[in-house]
Formats: sequence, C-alpha cells, structure tokens
Amino acid sequence: MTRGLIADAIRARDNAHAPFSNFKVGAALEDENGRVFTGCNIENATFGLTLCAERVAVFKALSEGARKFRRIVVAADTVTLTPPCGACRQILWEFCGDMEIVLANLAGDVESLQLATLFPRAFDASFL
Ligand code: THU
Repeated sequence: MTRGLIADAIRARDNAHAPFSNFKVGAALEDENGRVFTGCNIENATFGLTLCAERVAVFKALSEGARKFRRIVVAADTVTLTPPCGACRQILWEFCGDMEIVLANLAGDVESLQLATLFPRAFDASFL
C-alpha cells in the first residue's frame, strides 16, 4: 500500500518545476477512500510564490472534494530524508490533522512519522 504511494510521489516529482533551486520534490496524498492526489513543487520568478509539492497535493485534493486523509508521502533525492517545510506543516495540520507523514528518497530509504511529532502545539481553528 505505502509502496505504491511512494512510487506515485516519486513519479510526481518528475513534473516538478524547480529551475531556481533545482530541488525537485514529489508528494502523494491518500484520502480515506484510497484515492490518491499527487503534487510537485512549482517555483516562480518571484521565488516567494513557490508552492511546495505537499501543498499542491493538498489543494488538488480539496478542490476535487476530498476531505479526510490517511497519509502523505514526500519524496526527494536527498540522503537525509526531506521533511515538509513549516508552511506545509501548518496546511497539513489544518486540512489533514494528525496523519501519517512518510518521507522517502530515491535510494529506497523510508521513514514514517505522525504530523503531531513534526508539528507540536499547532495553532489552528480551535483557537478562534
Ligand atoms: N520544497 C517542497 O516542495 N517540499 C518540501 O518538503 C521542501 C521544499 C520545495 C520548495 C522549493 O521549490 C524547493 O523545494 C527548495 O526549497
């Protein structure tokens, strides 16, 4: 199950538009029904408007009507597995809750974490 999702994330990484950093990332987000939404990072000339692979996957899923999620795979070509950035942790927390975050690289290394471990004491709508 996770193996297939890792392959999806690695395939999505091939579509990354990262001419400024040359750092390509892929993501694959699985919803409660097993539907998979992929994403890759999309950079732009202002740099600051860059969207990470994780947020592309989350927003694609939300825009297609998915609302509950099981896990996301983040795939990059790094020896030390690449974790989601701070902005993505916030978005993942708000829209996916404390789900499984699977980090993978092209060499076959894999690590599974819970989002609450990566993003403790989060601010979210429960405070508003
Ligand atoms: N990036 C992601 O897409 N996801 C991550 O988890 C880390 C960073 C992207 C953003 C930018 O295009 C490039 O990687 C370098 O930061």
